[in-house]
Amino acid sequence: MTVASTRKLAVEEIRKDFPILATTARGRPLVYLDNAATTLKPKSVVEAVQRHLLLGASNVHRGVHYLSEKATADFEASREKVRSFINAREKAEIIFTAGTTAGINLVAHSYGSLLKAGDEIIISAMEHHSNIVPWQMLCERQGLTLRVAPVNDRGELDLTALEQLINQKTRLVAIVAVSNALGTINPIKHIIDLAHSHDVPVLLDAAQAVAHISLDVQALDVDFLAFSSHKLFGPTGLGVLYGRRELLDRMPPFLGGGDMIRSVTFAKTTYADLPAKFEAGTPHIAGVIGLGAAIDYVNHVGLAAIAAAEDELLHYGTRCLSEIPGLRMIGTAEHKTSILGFVLDDIHPHDIGTLLDQEGIAIRAGHHCTQPLMDRFGVPATARASLAFYNTKSEIDTLVQAILKVQRLFA
Ligand code: ALA
Repeated sequence: MTVASTRKLAVEEIRKDFPILATTARGRPLVYLDNAATTLKPKSVVEAVQRHLLLGASNVHRGVHYLSEKATADFEASREKVRSFINAREKAEIIFTAGTTAGINLVAHSYGSLLKAGDEIIISAMEHHSNIVPWQMLCERQGLTLRVAPVNDRGELDLTALEQLINQKTRLVAIVAVSNALGTINPIKHIIDLAHSHDVPVLLDAAQAVAHISLDVQALDVDFLAFSSHKLFGPTGLGVLYGRRELLDRMPPFLGGGDMIRSVTFAKTTYADLPAKFEAGTPHIAGVIGLGAAIDYVNHVGLAAIAAAEDELLHYGTRCLSEIPGLRMIGTAEHKTSILGFVLDDIHPHDIGTLLDQEGIAIRAGHHCTQPLMDRFGVPATARASLAFYNTKSEIDTLVQAILKVQRLFA
């Protein structure tokens, strides 16, 4: 693992932690600019997962034997790392889920079951489908109303409109911390304070934020926060739901099964305490251990250093792309991170993505699971280059040259 100062990252050294960066795609050096879809995994994460699977595989919370005790200790040590990473008060407030989507669905079902017809949920126009559809489904099930706070032409949330939407029927504000399509960093502390001044809890979709900005759930005073391991350099298929204990205690279980019970009879089942109450079934043990290693890695490099490196890349990339005639950036918020979304002349983003792929460049093209946001900007899709701290300015130069080539091809 690479030792890096918090002032300036030794990127070439860091890149050695990610062997995939030294590979080729379509015969060209790989330029990986799809970090918003998933981040790459450092060797230490893969090694931790491999160690568990090869030498420690066992179930957790069940066995009396050595391996099970060790797996349980490693699993719970990762929960403590997550707790510390987001500064939750206690480990019991850290629920392992299958991902951000699963975490939001858990809240929509469980907290949602406490709500009644006529109640309202507020989201924003820049939400990922995973923070839209679960609420729409809840609204259909229970007769609630979904309200949507608009965004301006730069892709910033209209805070005045958001405040006007809050009323006595509002039961939750569910909002993205960083937009996966625009890169906008929302003023989450301001939004939480605003909602709390009306006694309304807040859920943060932190999927895109967690690897880029520091999230302290106590300082934020947030009620729920969901993120995915795979966007924090950890394994896929795993996420974290943080919930404030007072709320989690009041909420009924979502999934029933093993590990979430205190006792079961055919007459009556009672439930386990937090966090087990919300963790039915055998969990993603290897993934959780890998996430622990990912958090160790991020702590070692330093989130502040990561953010500074990404900011420098973002400014460089924004300047370079903005100079390309015919290129329109989608998402120009004053406070943004690591996302370069754009449309180019009348070339379909899928064509851009396919042609960049021929140059070994990985970007995402499409609606980014934010169709209402694409509608807001009047485009069917965008091309999106998304950055991580292991990217370089030279990779951005390669991207720019490839975009110019695409333009020449379509001219
Ligand atoms: N939500 C992920 C993305 O933005 C998959 O690409």
